[in-house]
Amino acid sequence: MTKGEGSLAPKGRSRSGRGRGGQPGRQEWTSWPHYDAAAAGFRGYWYPVTWSSQITGKPLPFTICGENITLIRDGGKAYALHNRCPHRGVPLSEGNQQFPGTVSCPYHGWTFDLPTGNLAAVITDGPDCRLTGKVQVQTYAVEERLGMVWVYIPLADEEPHPIDEQLPEELVSNAFVMGGRIEPRSGNWRFACENGFDEGHAKYLHRTALWRLFKPMPTWNITRIVPRGRWIFRVQDEVHWEADFPGVGRWTNKRWWKLQPPKETFNIGNTGAADKINPTIEAQEFPGFASLSMPGVLRIAYPKFIHYEFYVAVDADHHRYVGVMVNFTEGWKTLGFYAKYLGAIRWLFHGQFSGQDAWMVDVTDAPPERLYRPDISLTAWRNLSEEEYGKKLAAVGAGAPAEKTEKET
Ligand code: FES
Ligand SMILES: [Fe+2]
Repeated sequence: MTKGEGSLAPKGRSRSGRGRGGQPGRQEWTSWPHYDAAAAGFRGYWYPVTWSSQITGKPLPFTICGENITLIRDGGKAYALHNRCPHRGVPLSEGNQQFPGTVSCPYHGWTFDLPTGNLAAVITDGPDCRLTGKVQVQTYAVEERLGMVWVYIPLADEEPHPIDEQLPEELVSNAFVMGGRIEPRSGNWRFACENGFDEGHAKYLHRTALWRLFKPMPTWNITRIVPRGRWIFRVQDEVHWEADFPGVGRWTNKRWWKLQPPKETFNIGNTGAADKINPTIEAQEFPGFASLSMPGVLRIAYPKFIHYEFYVAVDADHHRYVGVMVNFTEGWKTLGFYAKYLGAIRWLFHGQFSGQDAWMVDVTDAPPERLYRPDISLTAWRNLSEEEYGKKLAAVGAGAPAEKTEKET
């Protein structure tokens, strides 16, 4: 994009052309106002924060959707409090536990009840401190799923929806084993989410990934988006393994040492049809192997396992990448998964392959942008989030996220 094109964008509807199929050549995000405003994440959802094993009796600090939170475990249960002592603004995560069921600020010993956030005692003002019971720190709903601590970031003062309504359905009632990686990363969470569902990038960006050493990537696809429930799926109608570009040359990722690409178009795993698909995965009847749902949950279904990515906003320029590989097996077969995960998947897939994504997410700079045909994946996601978030705002009777004022007392 040239500077000239970009400078047209703020006027609103700068549409310098439409791709085939009526895909508009949008340059800015004004068509998606909620999405545009969600630089620090969509409030009103559960977010995975860290591994459950990390949360102990020692409070730790985290930032989710721009909100500073401290997590601490007491009596086996994890609690989340706003990470700011109302006295002088010291982070409670700098403090520790002086009494069961509480956390004490390190500065003057203001002590807060974990379940309610109420000021339970002020150590340095004696038992008759007049503020006791009158001051509060905001608390957040906490759940533990998939070996992680999840926190609900409220829009207003609403009750959180059940976390299971937000998890991928197949993870709620099936037995599985999993491995994963949680990483703080640079870049806005929306770039990470868009990258995850981005139709065009994998076949080019990841063509050099070791994960793909023996399997070629397609050159280009014809893809459509299929909504199902709260998910959108990428469905491949055509997969092209090589192409002649007029006046430029031929391009393919096929190599003599790689497997031959499958003859048929496939929609499970981006490597082609497998001889045997795990029964739990098969039972889902996914229309396509890549799917996405609010508030930024990516699901990539392979024949034998499913890879999930949760993109958790930290602030406008940082996010937490939560990558989870799930295998729907039980008993002795789980040992094979762990061996494979620790030996290869963790490094090749969650490591190097995903590192290529992290690199792009860090350097993406949009809007302005000039979308192309495969970006139907991006616009479909933005449309989905716009619609779902609009409904959510209406349901809680809340204004735009930016209008929410931070509560701390
Ligand atoms: S700042 Fe927390 S007790 Fe004083
Ligand atoms: Fe990628």
